[in-house]
Amino acid sequence: MKMIVCVSENWGIGKDNNLLFSLPPDMKFFRETTLGKVVIMGRGTLDSFPGGKPLKNRTNVVLTRDKNLVREGVVVFNSKEEILNYVKEFPADDVFVIGGGQIYEMFRDDCDEAIVTKVRKTCPCDTFLFNIDEDGDWKLYSESDLMDYEGTKFSFCVYRKTKKSLS
Ligand SMILES: NC(=O)c1ccc[n+]([C@@H]2O[C@H](COP(=O)([O-])OP(=O)(O)OC[C@H]3O[C@@H](n4cnc5c(N)ncnc54)[C@H](OP(=O)(O)O)[C@@H]3O)[C@@H](O)[C@H]2O)c1
Repeated sequence: MKMIVCVSENWGIGKDNNLLFSLPPDMKFFRETTLGKVVIMGRGTLDSFPGGKPLKNRTNVVLTRDKNLVREGVVVFNSKEEILNYVKEFPADDVFVIGGGQIYEMFRDDCDEAIVTKVRKTCPCDTFLFNIDEDGDWKLYSESDLMDYEGTKFSFCVYRKTKKSLS
């Protein structure tokens, strides 16, 4: 299982239930990476999408405490354990944790790879990712060249769990 996330320099991922950046190259990368795959998200993230609608052409899995939540095109669960059981049917590399803050935190020990878009900006935020650079369980595996979109600099990074933390 992998997580995919876009972070600011201060490890922010969102504010007022919205993304921090509108970065078309990152949106394209996210879409291409997750298309046809399983995406796991919290109910907060589902509600942050336009009209609260799920992502097209992906299996949308949502975690909520609401026992009555029904949304078209969404598989709803009330616990992490139910989600882990459901995604067992899929190849692990096809399962992506896509946020938000509560869900990244909840599944961080279940992921063996983190695909992190690092935006070289610091901005006000109310939702954060753990600092993966300072977490000894993770090691930077690869990083793209620094890119620029209309003055916003960013790079695509892949982190993997260290062998020690996987054993
Ligand atoms: N930068 C990125 O890559 C990225 C990606 C995704 C999201 N985001 C941002 O992250 C923010 C949303 O993150 P968030 O942390 O507020 O919300 P979230 O993680 O998307 O969802 C939180 C919700 O998950 C459910 N939940 C949490 N723990 C649970 C448990 N133990 N059992 C059952 N359900 C549980 C609850 O839903 P109920 O309240 O329905 O019970 C809770 O309100 C937004 O700003 C969004 O734009 C950023």
